[in-house]
Amino acid sequence: MHKVFTAKYPSNIALVKYWGKYGNQLPRNASLSMTLCKAYTEVSLICIKKKNPEVKIEYFFEGSTGPAFYERILRYIIGQNEFEKLVRNYTLKISSKNSFPHSAGIASSASAFAAIAAVLLKASNTIRAGQFNEQASRLARLGSGSACRSFYGPFSLWGKLEGVKDSSDEYAIPVENVHKVFKSMMDAILIVDDSPKKVSSSKGHSLMKEHPYAAARFRDANKNCKEMLSVLRSGDFENFAFITEREALSLHAMMMTSREHYLLIRSGTVKVIEEILRFRKETGLPLCYTLDAGPNVHLLYPASIREQVHTFIQQDLFNDLKTVIYDSAGSGGTVLKVNNGKA
Ligand code: DP6
Repeated sequence: MHKVFTAKYPSNIALVKYWGKYGNQLPRNASLSMTLCKAYTEVSLICIKKKNPEVKIEYFFEGSTGPAFYERILRYIIGQNEFEKLVRNYTLKISSKNSFPHSAGIASSASAFAAIAAVLLKASNTIRAGQFNEQASRLARLGSGSACRSFYGPFSLWGKLEGVKDSSDEYAIPVENVHKVFKSMMDAILIVDDSPKKVSSSKGHSLMKEHPYAAARFRDANKNCKEMLSVLRSGDFENFAFITEREALSLHAMMMTSREHYLLIRSGTVKVIEEILRFRKETGLPLCYTLDAGPNVHLLYPASIREQVHTFIQQDLFNDLKTVIYDSAGSGGTVLKVNNGKA
């Protein structure tokens, strides 16, 4: 017997950043993200019945095998109790592909681990009634922290926050009652530099362990999450922009002031940010920027001003960019069981 499952899960961009962890992939502060739509990972899983208990897991990324991500996936799958029976009874063939290019400022581990956790959970038959997303979000987190936020949209919250019902360090929850202006948010990802990351996020997280500003940073991020939750309900774009931009710069300030300090923004990043701020001041349009752990800039704006923003990008930014990826707020992913037939 073999079973085939496919899943398609999006990446997400944090507005309030997860930066610093403890224990088994638990966050030092709450984070809040916008789920993307066109930037996703598609995973297919083939489970082939076997008699020998020896572990047999194959992993193909965009058609080829390679040691880089394979080791991490293997360790991850073997490490989860939920997948134990599946690994014992089946040969697992996993194929994964992204809808977006590498090093584009889109968190590929977020969409990949969301999709991988979701298909494996579905195949494992260990789902508790009505709790698929919660379980899958928790399992995705164990692969990559930010992945746990890709199960809900348009916004998702991860991390225990005082006064916020159901919030947890273990898994993400959806942000409810989002104002209509934020439901139609767009994200133009402005690619300033597409070379591979110089310092991994794992390294960055670990540097927060002995960061002189760590305690203040974690307090500030939790406060920003609470404020962002009320901003998302009220529709207050000015404060949305204020929190989002301060968070982006705080993340990079942490990198710049770590003991092994480093700089991921480039001169092009600063130039693009300054152009965005100039354009906003001149036009009064509701737009703002954020940064992930890299040099590329995410320009966020409601769909109602997309024409003006596209013209601005083409006329004032394009010469400083490698390319632009246009995305928008999405609603999370799906897993489909395709086939359960005889091999
Ligand atoms: C800057 O989720 O990639 O994108 O848990 O080690 O896989 P691991 O880290 P990862 O860190 C993401 C950091 C960030 C901010 C964020 O997405 O919240």
